[in-house]
Amino acid sequence: MKCSLLLFLLLLLFFFIIFSSTSKLSGAASIVRTIAVDPNHKGDFTSIQEAIDSIPNNNTHWIKIHVAAGVYRFVIAGAPQNTYDGSVNIRQALAAAISGDKSSFYNCSFIGFQDTLFDRKGRHYFKDCYIEGVMDFIFGNGQSIYEGCTISLIRSAMKPGFMTAQGRGSPKDPGGFVFKSCNVTGFQETYLGRAWGAYSRVIFYRTFMSGIIIPQGWYAWNAIGHE
Ligand SMILES: *[C@@H]1O[C@H](CO)[C@@H](O)[C@H](O)[C@H]1NC(C)=O
Ligand SMILES: *[C@@H]1O[C@H](CO)[C@@H](O)[C@H](O)[C@H]1NC(C)=O
Ligand SMILES: *[C@@H]1O[C@H](CO)[C@@H](O)[C@H](O)[C@H]1NC(C)=O
Repeated sequence: MKCSLLLFLLLLLFFFIIFSSTSKLSGAASIVRTIAVDPNHKGDFTSIQEAIDSIPNNNTHWIKIHVAAGVYRFVIAGAPQNTYDGSVNIRQALAAAISGDKSSFYNCSFIGFQDTLFDRKGRHYFKDCYIEGVMDFIFGNGQSIYEGCTISLIRSAMKPGFMTAQGRGSPKDPGGFVFKSCNVTGFQETYLGRAWGAYSRVIFYRTFMSGIIIPQGWYAWNAIGHE
């Protein structure tokens, strides 16, 4: 599948990122700078990408990006290849790709269909977020905690859904998704995930699951023999 320019839709109600690119950080986060994003020109930038680009790569401090409520649409080049069995031409709708280390998101909504949230790599924390989609919509090999989040399956022609596609590739790989005190709900049946990597790791802890979950839970996909 050619990864040309894709339309990415990011809907955010309240969006905070605390962003850093190195591990030279003290335990308690002390934020040295706050950047405001507001599409109505009332902040430092009008787009989330400009705010992220304004942070140098060698940054060692916590920086908070406060994003005003609104709908943000943006175009990103080069999404990962995705496979879907069948000949249906699916329009990918990646909302966000996160590969920095130590990023956290509070009260954010990630709205998509397939591949909504690319939790690619690094340590991430999602608190009180809302994530919506159908196919592999939380995917990648981040080392992430989702706490108090609502995960919602939208109704679609693609059945069943696959909530996660975790990409851990070896037994020593630290990647994995933990869903703690979350709520998995929505409008069509779904697997909890399918294994994108042979050592795919997803943990649900104290999470409410509605009746949409297929009782087997998981689908081996690329990792038959590793179940
Ligand atoms: C960080 O990078 C900027 C340019 O990107 C450079 O001017 C600065 O000296 C660098 N700082 C450190 C601590 O490496
Ligand atoms: C998240 O939203 C809740 C309810 O609207 C609010 O009480 C809380 O302060 C918000 N958290 C952040 C970090 O903005
Ligand atoms: C989960 O979300 C659904 C839909 O918003 C809601 O009806 C249900 O009460 C929630 N369950 C819990 C335990 O929060």
